[in-house]
Amino acid sequence: MTRPALLFLLSGLLLAALSAPVLSGTVQEPAGQEEEHTVIEENMKTIKGGMRQLRRGLRDAENLPAALPVIVDMQKAAQACKTEIPKMAASISDEKERAAFVAAYRQGMIATQRLMLDLEDAVIAGDLEKCAQLYDALKNSQDKGHDRFTDE
Ligand code: HEM
Repeated sequence: MTRPALLFLLSGLLLAALSAPVLSGTVQEPAGQEEEHTVIEENMKTIKGGMRQLRRGLRDAENLPAALPVIVDMQKAAQACKTEIPKMAASISDEKERAAFVAAYRQGMIATQRLMLDLEDAVIAGDLEKCAQLYDALKNSQDKGHDRFTDE
């Protein structure tokens, strides 16, 4: 390759790197996988993975200790979601309505965080019945949350 051609290639690469979009609230995938996920989506996936582990993990007393770190990871993920703004907010043109939507989303996440704390408490107490109730309540919160705050 000639020297001018090499310089041209290098400056092109530099320009491409510098012009990479900086989008708040989104996490970019490695080059080649252009799909972007919001911070909420990324952390919701952690919560979903945790729920999958808990589906069986809360049935027997001997499995309860292993559920604790899973629940703590879900709590951290919920905390990360709480201060974000759902994608759907962008479709609400009225400013007051949008603010109310974001506030209600945050309250919904707080309620979910409470359930996760109560679940941690029930696991420590070894209360299998309460664990099952709280697992179901978390499932309900998912359905209610998605009905109200997502388009899907
Ligand atoms: C156990 C409870 C929950 C689970 C397992 C869960 C799981 C998920 C999953 C798997 C996604 C899609 C991620 C993707 O497409 O990559 C998602 C998206 C979403 N969830 Fe949840 N979710 C839960 C509770 C909630 C609650 C309580 C709310 C609201 C208060 C909520 C609000 C949302 C929103 C707004 C999105 C769309 C992402 C965005 O707008 O950026 N979720 N959730």
